[in-house]
Amino acid sequence: MNEYNYKSYESIIRWFSGKKLNFLVTGAAGFIGTNLVLKLLELGQNVTGADNFLTGKRSNIALINELHAKVAKDADERKGGNFSFIECDLRDINECRRITAGIDFVFHEAGLGSVPWSLEDPLLFHADDDTAFFNILNASKENAVKKLIYASSSAVYGTCKKLPAVENKIGGQVSMYASAKLTNEIYAKTFYNVFGFESIGFRYFNIYGDFQDPDSKYAAVIPAWIKNILGGKTFIVNGDGKTTRDFCYVDDVVKINLLGVIADKKYAEGSVYNAASGSSVTLKDLAEMLVRLLNSNVKYEFGPFRQGDIKYSAADITKAKNDLGYFPGSTLEEGLEKSLNWYKKVLKIH
Ligand SMILES: NC(=O)c1ccc[n+]([C@@H]2O[C@H](COP(=O)([O-])OP(=O)(O)OC[C@H]3O[C@@H](n4cnc5c(N)ncnc54)[C@H](O)[C@@H]3O)[C@@H](O)[C@H]2O)c1
Repeated sequence: MNEYNYKSYESIIRWFSGKKLNFLVTGAAGFIGTNLVLKLLELGQNVTGADNFLTGKRSNIALINELHAKVAKDADERKGGNFSFIECDLRDINECRRITAGIDFVFHEAGLGSVPWSLEDPLLFHADDDTAFFNILNASKENAVKKLIYASSSAVYGTCKKLPAVENKIGGQVSMYASAKLTNEIYAKTFYNVFGFESIGFRYFNIYGDFQDPDSKYAAVIPAWIKNILGGKTFIVNGDGKTTRDFCYVDDVVKINLLGVIADKKYAEGSVYNAASGSSVTLKDLAEMLVRLLNSNVKYEFGPFRQGDIKYSAADITKAKNDLGYFPGSTLEEGLEKSLNWYKKVLKIH
């Protein structure tokens, strides 16, 4: 752990120590939600998870309960946070009102996250990524939640040519997914302007790590390729391989969310931050790194560039460093090494 990464963790631990607050994590059965719940429980907080299992897994909730029961058994009273889970659909405002009652901080991780899926089913994305967000925002404000911290996306940058991407310069959106996320940011800012309701949106770049689903039709590139490589199958690199992405290890995303909780009020005025590693690789380099790390000789082929995808993506993380004290802790190779065992385990390949 480098010095800066250590410092950002230290400030989180200091802030949480001795406090027992009520957190709501929406999308708790999903990839990022599950990681966030586990960290909050480790920090001794009371956590309510909410999910409708649209893409999330019941097995993740079962695992959270199992791990939590084990920790609670060994830990003293001070350490033991509580976990409860509510199955509900955030497209229903009354469900949002119910789950935000008595909550101090909301992490909104529920939603759908696929560009091609949003082109196939715009209405679903409008309901799930727009209406559900508005419901949780409005219900959080009604129930006097202290702060809403939510998942936006690098897709918001769209056609912007300026790289690395800086928060205040975006282009035109090229998918319904991107426009839904941008709409979230506009609503959140308006709720601050009008009601003084505090929020922070994190524009996640490409996140990877434990609990990411490799089996979905819309699986992200890292789990999808790992599945092919481990299964000994040729895989497709969409485009010419020169497409770039900023891949960020999930522990760093959990960390930036926690820094969002402890951030000064002036950084939560409907503000948005890039959540990324700050360095990009080409898809060709990623493909070769994965083949090497998995000791494989599986080959890849180039396929068509996907509609709605951005060709070059790179994040400037200066704003998050300066305002929140965020420093990523893992390089791509380190993050992959930490998560490969998990991917192997869920794919039942040893
Ligand atoms: N993973 C990434 O690389 C990435 C990048 C950019 C943005 N994001 C955003 O981050 C958030 C979390 O992503 P993830 O990768 O963990 O996705 P995920 O699909 O693993 O998790 C999302 C969770 O939300 C739940 N959900 C969806 N709609 C719901 C609804 N109406 N009511 C209740 N629960 C609902 C799903 O069942 C699932 O458990 C999403 O908003 C996504 O768009 C993710």
